Amino acid sequence: MRLPYSAPVHPPLNTDSRILLGPGPSNVDPRVLQAMAASMVGHLDPLFLETMDRIQDLLRYAFQSQNPLTIPVSGTGSAAMETALANLIEPGDPVLICVNGFFGERMVDIARRYQGDVRTLQRPWAEVFTLEEIEAELKARPAKVVAIVHGETSTGALQPLEGMAAMVRGHGGLLVVDAVATLGGVPMLVDELGIDVCYTGSQKCLSSPPGLGPITLGPRAAEVLAGRKSPVGSWYLDLTGVQKYWGKERTYHHTAPISANFALYEALRLLAEEGLEASWTRHRRCAELLWEGVADLDLTLLIPEPYRMVTVTTVRVPDGVNEAQVRGRLREEFKIEIAGGLGELKGKVWRIGLMGHSAQEQNVAALLGALERILHPA
Ligand SMILES: Cc1ncc(COP(=O)(O)O)c(C=O)c1O
Repeated sequence: MRLPYSAPVHPPLNTDSRILLGPGPSNVDPRVLQAMAASMVGHLDPLFLETMDRIQDLLRYAFQSQNPLTIPVSGTGSAAMETALANLIEPGDPVLICVNGFFGERMVDIARRYQGDVRTLQRPWAEVFTLEEIEAELKARPAKVVAIVHGETSTGALQPLEGMAAMVRGHGGLLVVDAVATLGGVPMLVDELGIDVCYTGSQKCLSSPPGLGPITLGPRAAEVLAGRKSPVGSWYLDLTGVQKYWGKERTYHHTAPISANFALYEALRLLAEEGLEASWTRHRRCAELLWEGVADLDLTLLIPEPYRMVTVTTVRVPDGVNEAQVRGRLREEFKIEIAGGLGELKGKVWRIGLMGHSAQEQNVAALLGALERILHPA
């Protein structure tokens, strides 16, 4: 039989190695790549089921939580974000979202799609929120869900969270925290902070390939989920179904992305071997080296301390410099990836990520050396 369309011919994949210093994905340890290449097993194979339990155990360590409902959502960080909001919000529920950058705006978009009655608390990009201003907003109108981004990757600002969950709870709400760009790289103690829902992505400080969105739900959030009057607006992300697969029942919900979970398992094992505190110290040491080095190159940082993210640094593009050209040269000549600005900051900043396996001193030195060659040629 003659097919109407003939088979296309393309070359085999050829990815030369790069130093990934953008805001994700990060470089991946060879052990993680090896785990990803392990033989395929079925999604109900006892070996995989056992691995699932171990992943959950390791994730609880990473989140510093004992929440039973702690799983990697099949999907990237945005899927975890959507899972958090979809499972808590019923149509008409009052929701407060703190917006000081691109990912806060994404939360608003998602919460509206699930028909939350969304109000936003806005701060100029690159600033952070005070407890008092969030509380004033909740006094004016209580919200069932309050959502905030811990590390706003678009600006490089780190939101302090101390006291926030207790304050939100005092007004009858649940606190959702986006830790996509921070978990594993900076202190984040979910139970101690009293956070109701926290989620992250596999590809940043956890240093696994993109594709999984770990999430943890505390007891109050689990109760709200169990007591919903309407079904969760997304079938795929409905945790009442997903948790039957990840919990004791082992009921099929969807075919888990086996290889991605194998990779995450190994990445989490690496994190546990290093220890969270050592990982936080390594991330900070690398960031401080970067900050010192960019100052020596006469570059300035967008975010002042103490609100500066350790894991993603935003560097102002000097006047007269074509930022895209610099990134292009870094990529082509030095095999180093950094990112440009997002949204309002497009063209104005570079975003440099030092996360997970990418957070190594030699990577900082390589980047600083390359930037010096490009910006200040001899
Ligand atoms: C703070 C934050 N939230 C959410 C996301 C979305 O994650 P993903 O791109 O994995 O869907 C990102 C990704 O950069 C992020 O930095």
